[in-house]
Amino acid sequence: MPKRKHKPISTLHERRRMTDTTFSPARLHWSSRLMFVFAASGSAVGLGNIWKFPYIVGENGGGAFVLMYLGCLIGLGAPLLIGEIMVGRRGGEFPASAFLKVAREKAMSSAWGGLGALGAVIAIMILAFYSVVSGWVGIYTLDFAAAALGGDAARTGADAFSAMLADPIVQLSAVTVIALTAGLVIYFDVTGGIQSVMRIVAPLFAVLLVVMLVMVASTTGKLGEAMTYMFRPDFSALSLDAFGEALGHAFFTLSVGMCGMLIYGAYLDDGANVPRLGFAVAILDTAIAFAAALIIFPIVFAFELESNGGPGLLFIALPQGFSLLPAGDLLGFGFFTATLLAAFSSLIALMIIARHWLDETFRIGGQNATLAATLATWVGGIAVTLSMTVWDSISIFGRSLFDFLDEATSAWLLPISGLGMAIFVSRAIVPTLPDGPVKTYLDICLSYVAPLGILIFTVSKLLDL
Ligand code: PHE
Repeated sequence: MPKRKHKPISTLHERRRMTDTTFSPARLHWSSRLMFVFAASGSAVGLGNIWKFPYIVGENGGGAFVLMYLGCLIGLGAPLLIGEIMVGRRGGEFPASAFLKVAREKAMSSAWGGLGALGAVIAIMILAFYSVVSGWVGIYTLDFAAAALGGDAARTGADAFSAMLADPIVQLSAVTVIALTAGLVIYFDVTGGIQSVMRIVAPLFAVLLVVMLVMVASTTGKLGEAMTYMFRPDFSALSLDAFGEALGHAFFTLSVGMCGMLIYGAYLDDGANVPRLGFAVAILDTAIAFAAALIIFPIVFAFELESNGGPGLLFIALPQGFSLLPAGDLLGFGFFTATLLAAFSSLIALMIIARHWLDETFRIGGQNATLAATLATWVGGIAVTLSMTVWDSISIFGRSLFDFLDEATSAWLLPISGLGMAIFVSRAIVPTLPDGPVKTYLDICLSYVAPLGILIFTVSKLLDL
């Protein structure tokens, strides 16, 4: 039995109560439930909220998409988030063994353990492009910092973004620094590391975001227009593709379907009210995505930039807007620093998934597994960078490696894994809950809404191929 090599730091309470989890001799716990909310939000709030959400809202025409996205969050995302945490609390922190343990208790097939492997594979695929986009954020943060300190003007506009995309050296350096730093944080202590990072990052992040929102609203005067765009639905903009995008993003943004929340749930004490904690994380995640969009769209409208600017929205439109605002360099530095913090804590959460799964599958011990997860992130990041620069003629199903990984995970693998988890939780966990509105809600969503929604979407996508 591999022994936990990490020394728990003082913020972590180790209970000397043996559990029957195969892997951990004693269960580690979050120092408080608030810490769980911090850590789980650190995982959930990331590039999905700040980079992806605003640009997919822009691509899908605003209000109606936002409404559909909220529907996916309430009907699928939040119930799965709660379910995943419950599986972790009951089954322990190692993805495949957690499913196996719960399945065995319920005399269900051991094939359910496969959900752990599926989650880890998705996490490793996401890491490859997540590390690259995090690297871009790092590059822009440094650039704005230099500009704010009186150096050259920060990068703005499409040309500067394309020039960065075409530069393998600067991107490879950024990926290397980010992957290594995240690896070090995990190496020195998985949960303790996350807790100490989040204790500082979470409040700092919230403050930065609120300051940005107020400053952008007062300098552009376009907050009202942005609100109308985001909250007045135009149903003619709806399509099946938009539904798919909303669905995939609901998983991605809440970090569900990849076993990340399962791992964090394993460190919760038995008395914790999981639905309440799960809702807190989902509401926080949504609030931050909305805040990010309400920072970006006023700038877009004030300077008549393209609202459907795609993945470049954050990196092209926004710096352009900042360059025209008073104290724009400082604002840009604040915004990109907040984004970098959010991206970094999500990257750590993704790497922890890879680490736990590699550890339990190959029995190599936590520290070796951390090294392997860091290496996988680094190699994946290098491959994605090279595929956009020196190997840009190579394509997979007509897509770049970046687009392939993004689409394969969000449009296919996450919904499939979500479907599996919904069925599993509705059979293994929901029947054991006390009767009441929460049980009814989880039952309806996980037994009917989620499977139906995912099936309709996946089948229609298959027919569309
Ligand atoms: N939820 C993160 C985001 O929105 C991505 C993520 C997925 C992080 C899975 C951890 C685990 O950016």
